[in-house]
Amino acid sequence: MSLAVLHSRALAGMDAPEVTVEVHLSGGLPSFTIVGLPEAEVKEARDRVRAALINARFEFPARRLTVNLAPADLPKESGRFDLPIALGILAASGQLPADRLEEYEFAGELSLTGDLRPIRGALAMTYTALRCGRAFVLPRASAAEASLVREARILPARTLLEVCAHLARRENLQPYIAQAAAAAQPDYPDLADVKGQAQAKRALEIAAAGGHSLLMTGPPGSGKSMLAARFPGLLPPMSDTEALESAALQSLGSGGFRLEQFRRRPFRAPHHSASSVALVGGGSDPRPGEISLAHRGVLFLDELPEFERRVLETLRGPLESGRVAISRAARQAEFPARFQLVAAMNPCMCGYLGHYSGRCHCTPDQVLRYRSKISGPLLDRIDIHIEVPAVPAEDLSRVSNGDVSSVIRARVEQARAKMITRQAKENARLTTREIDSHCAPDGKGATLLMHAISRLGLSARAYHRILKVARTIADVAGVERVSAAHVAEAVQYRRFDRT
Ligand SMILES: Nc1ncnc2c1ncn2[C@@H]1O[C@H](COP(=O)(O)OP(=O)(O)O)[C@@H](O)[C@H]1O
Ligand SMILES: [Mg+2]
Ligand SMILES: [Zn+2]
Repeated sequence: MSLAVLHSRALAGMDAPEVTVEVHLSGGLPSFTIVGLPEAEVKEARDRVRAALINARFEFPARRLTVNLAPADLPKESGRFDLPIALGILAASGQLPADRLEEYEFAGELSLTGDLRPIRGALAMTYTALRCGRAFVLPRASAAEASLVREARILPARTLLEVCAHLARRENLQPYIAQAAAAAQPDYPDLADVKGQAQAKRALEIAAAGGHSLLMTGPPGSGKSMLAARFPGLLPPMSDTEALESAALQSLGSGGFRLEQFRRRPFRAPHHSASSVALVGGGSDPRPGEISLAHRGVLFLDELPEFERRVLETLRGPLESGRVAISRAARQAEFPARFQLVAAMNPCMCGYLGHYSGRCHCTPDQVLRYRSKISGPLLDRIDIHIEVPAVPAEDLSRVSNGDVSSVIRARVEQARAKMITRQAKENARLTTREIDSHCAPDGKGATLLMHAISRLGLSARAYHRILKVARTIADVAGVERVSAAHVAEAVQYRRFDRT
């Protein structure tokens, strides 16, 4: 009996646990068994491997062939194991030297002709392979993404034959050289494209500075989508760690990762018909949902009341914790989901309430029903609520464009630096205890807040949100103590609590 052992990786959330691929060849009637893959995928894996070997003019051994993928209880997408299985068969049957197998990890799906197809999650796998000190042999098409892990040793290959030539020391695979494109700073659409809307822009700046979630209410065509799309450009550049983490999540998602996306703050805008799996993640091989794809960036929910209430409810936990745990049957996965929520809605069903006199015929009852589609607890968790009225056409040529995004971003970075020095996190993430110690307003500010609370009938939660936002407004102004002016502005951003 001969045996070959190779290393590969499965995907479990952001983690890529090691999988050992053992190939046994023994006497007896010819057979080909794969243990450790989901039943449904075994046949396809066998067919691909067999065809690829035969088409590459290797001999498919006419003996008892057993492939064991261990451990058995990991989620495994079968395609990625084609390459190590094929190499294991060649090594066990003496068609390929086995002495170098230990130095590498292998992953790649084989086409019937022996070409290597890209794999999902190459970035996450490279991360972990690096820690084990092995070089990673993977499909050429996945190499750019994997190369974002700087110190990783990546050997990309186009075909099974190229890998064989390398292992047989006939022709070495060339290490992948990372492209400079990854270092470039992305550009975003500019906030100065939006005319007027000074108040909304101010709110966007505060939200960006403190990491606060934001809800815009306004009639169709008032520029809500335009404003939202410009929000990522107000956020500070991504750190190396943030960029890698985000890239790894994209690479695990169904859409995959594109190099042009690297260092670009994500902007995800799922349609209101999105399911909760699409939004928070899931599936039998758990994949990140929109909230994780938006990690370190923006999740834009347009037409917020049109989302299913049950779907919106699933956002509450992640909004607080910045993570999402997905369990599906026996499989557990956790993904980061620290996104900034930007939401938009019309003021009523027709959209024109209070904006074009006479145009809206919604009854107060209908307006109430429309708004109550969004659950109170979710609204409560959105720090900043603003109105975005339409800029009349005749004003569009007259109003100012305000600061360009880069100027605002510089202020946002300064404000964030203050927060980091003071409390090592953004204001939006302060706990109630921390709010008490870091956001306490001066005497006038406290009095103003008390009045506002009793006059508007605000909840305790709203009270703390106001203080956090007031803290951010003071930070943007570069002021140490939260004063009445900061509190007053923050109270204005609780529009919904008042209706
Ligand atoms: N303040 C503005 N400055 C420049 N263009 C605007 C402004 N408001 C609206 N527009 C124009 O109107 C279009 C619709 O805006 P949009 O952001 O889609 O509105 P909403 O999402 O509120 O329905 C935009 O594509 C833009 O051309
Ligand atoms: Mg819109
Ligand atoms: Zn209406």
